[in-house]
Amino acid sequence: MKIVVIQGPNLNMLGVREQNIYGPMKLEDIHAQMRAFAEQNSIDIEFFQSNLEGEMVDRVQECMGDADGIIINPAAYTHTSIALRDAIAAVQIPTLEVHLSNIYQREEFRHTSLTAPVCSGQISGMGPFGYHLAMVGMTQILNEVKMMKEQQAKAQA
Ligand code: DQA
Repeated sequence: MKIVVIQGPNLNMLGVREQNIYGPMKLEDIHAQMRAFAEQNSIDIEFFQSNLEGEMVDRVQECMGDADGIIINPAAYTHTSIALRDAIAAVQIPTLEVHLSNIYQREEFRHTSLTAPVCSGQISGMGPFGYHLAMVGMTQILNEVKMMKEQQAKAQA
C-alpha cells in the first residue's frame, strides 16, 4: 500500500508563515509524524512539495500505476487550479484534501475549492492533526478498496 503526499505553494514556509493561522509546526515535522504512522501500519509513503502548479500536476499524474492513495494540500491552488482538479479526476486514485486552516471561516475567495469535488473527502481546520486524520481516513478507504477487490476476485473464481 502506497500513499503519496503532495503539498502546494508556501507550505514549505510552515512554522514561519502566518503562525497565527497555521501554527508553529514545520512541514518536515508534520511529515515525520505521517511517516511514523505509515511505518506502524506497513504503508509506503512519499512526500512532495512544490510552489509550481505544473509540477504538482506532474506529480499527481506520476501517481498513476504507482500510488494507491493521494493526500493533497493544494494550498492557494485549491481555489484557482482547474488543471490540478483535472489531474486528480484523471488518475482515479482515492484522494483526500487537507487544509490546516478552516477555509470556510476565512476570506470569501477561500470558500471555494475547485479540487474538493473530485476528492474522496476534505479535512479543513484541524491544523497539523488534519494530516493524521487523513492518514487514518486513507487507510480505511484503501482497506475497503482491497476488500472489495478480494470479494470481486472470489465471485469471479
Ligand atoms: C491552506 C489554505 C489556503 O487557502 C492557503 O492558500 C494555503 C494553506 C491551508 O492549509 O489552510 O496556503 O491550504
